Amino acid sequence: MAKTKLHKYERVKQLPNVTFTQFGESKLPVYPWYAQGYTGMEKVLELGCGKGEHSLSFAAVNPGKLYLGIDSKSHRICVGAEKAMAQGLENVMFLQVRIERIQDFFIQQSIHEIWLTFPDPHLKNRSVKNRLSAPLFLDAYAHLLIPGGIVHLKTDSESLFNYTKESVQSWGGQVVEAVTDLHESDIQGAQDSRFGARDIVSAFEKAAQSKGATIKYLAFTLH
Ligand SMILES: C[S@@+](CC[C@H](N)C(=O)[O-])C[C@H]1O[C@@H](n2cnc3c(N)ncnc32)[C@H](O)[C@@H]1O
Repeated sequence: MAKTKLHKYERVKQLPNVTFTQFGESKLPVYPWYAQGYTGMEKVLELGCGKGEHSLSFAAVNPGKLYLGIDSKSHRICVGAEKAMAQGLENVMFLQVRIERIQDFFIQQSIHEIWLTFPDPHLKNRSVKNRLSAPLFLDAYAHLLIPGGIVHLKTDSESLFNYTKESVQSWGGQVVEAVTDLHESDIQGAQDSRFGARDIVSAFEKAAQSKGATIKYLAFTLH
């Protein structure tokens, strides 16, 4: 394994803005995001956050909201968590966990928005159930979101974009925005935020664009 990756695995364990999980544990509601200092702040999740580029940018312009980046890969989280500390962003935290277990870490109806930023499209038929907009994930999001809370999807995959529209509709949710070329649209995205879906371009997104892909954006509610 590359040395830099190994160093990140070690460094990330020392960072105060990262929470690690163990299989089978749930200490609800004793997690840092429910500490007294964060009471009254809207909570926004970025699922499959990687280096947390969207969370960091949103957090910088919305100090009244708490952003939680979630990913299973701690060496990616390490990059975002160290940047958040270097920038003095106290309203960003990271959680290392598989998204399949997300309900163990957040109280029912305590989340205002969820961002799915370039989730893996899982193009093979047998892995469709792993898409972050498959019905079991939508069940979990509906459990966590406040009524009217929005899920945002940014993707370069037409297949995942179309699948998500259908999955949300057959689940009983409502698509509130759907654009096939976000950067050519005038869509804002994001609730009560000075930044929207168009204003932040992650490294993954930039790479997709440089290969000629257009970025698709979908917003939906589940109740
Ligand atoms: C294509 S990357 C996108 C990263 C980032 N959101 C961006 O825009 O650059 C997908 C990320 O989702 C994470 N991921 C995929 N499936 C996951 C799961 N089931 N639980 C936790 N993280 C997951 C991967 O580790 C990876 O960091």
